[in-house]
Amino acid sequence: MSVIISPASVAEAPARPLSPLAQHVADGLRREPKTLSSMYFYDDAGSRLFQQIMALPEYYPTRTELAIFREQGAAIVAALGGAGDPADFSLVELGAGDGAKTKVLLRELLAVNPAVTYAPVDISAGAMSGLVQTLSRELPALRVVPVVETYAEALRQLRTRPGRKAVLFLGSNIGNFGPAEQLDFLRQLAEPLGPDDRLLIGFDLRKDPRRIRAAYDDAQGVTAAFNLNLLTRLNRELGADFDLAHWQHYTDYNPLNGAVRSFLVSTRAQHVHLAALNENVEFGPWEAIHTENSYKFSLPQIEALAAQVGLRIAEVFSDAAGDFADVVLAARPVGC
Ligand code: AVJ
Repeated sequence: MSVIISPASVAEAPARPLSPLAQHVADGLRREPKTLSSMYFYDDAGSRLFQQIMALPEYYPTRTELAIFREQGAAIVAALGGAGDPADFSLVELGAGDGAKTKVLLRELLAVNPAVTYAPVDISAGAMSGLVQTLSRELPALRVVPVVETYAEALRQLRTRPGRKAVLFLGSNIGNFGPAEQLDFLRQLAEPLGPDDRLLIGFDLRKDPRRIRAAYDDAQGVTAAFNLNLLTRLNRELGADFDLAHWQHYTDYNPLNGAVRSFLVSTRAQHVHLAALNENVEFGPWEAIHTENSYKFSLPQIEALAAQVGLRIAEVFSDAAGDFADVVLAARPVGC
């Protein structure tokens, strides 16, 4: 299939530099196969749709991780070093969202360390203000320092954060990265860790392929709406004219490599104008845009990932069915 991208007019390209979203979309839709990053799902509407996904009967990860925290929260906090020297201890959470699961850990943590600082990082300003409000109501004693930033910027800030820290990356958010990016991201998380610092990473584990697939193609169509919302966002923010009647959500799961991949499929030949890029993009019939990875993991694979970036597994907290694992990681002492 050929990609035809033609300037919409012969007028000169606008002098204004492209926004990060516009640049990303320009790069992604020029590629073959076309691809867009799931990072851009989370505008305020997308964050609200993700809230609905987490409550779906098919979407097991959130409630499973919540149950792990409810049942083993005290042990998790102990493994994070939350009961150690209370001075300068902060809990940094990448992709905090509504913080519903983290609240369970924060309660446990406050009980042993009332001086803790919680630094939630999220790309959605709407989700963050919601989180800050709930926390001030439900955990008024907690010191909260919100960070509305991308992961990249948050990682930069992590390097200069003083004191002991535990960094949380929950909900199998790590599955959004492909294998090479997983390693790269873990390396960046591992780099600023002191000997008493810890990482807590939530990994969705491999299981019945049909259950996994259903979690990403629910009967009510909420996941479809979540994926399609990306096009609504491009229509609004880039002056695009995607006609949602001619796009479909599709997901597959590959049990060989644990990859869940989500796509937006063009149900007919069509072209889309993107005013902000001054471009038309052609889509062939049934051409797909790859919009998301949601990798599933095995414990040996997690061990291997950790070893490759100089981390060791301190402890694994899992549910009885083995659906999900919250893994506490620490720096591997040099020479080991
Ligand atoms: C927020 C990345 C963990 O991949 O399971 C849910 C996002 N996408 N349904 C996931 C998502 C479709 C979710 N993460």
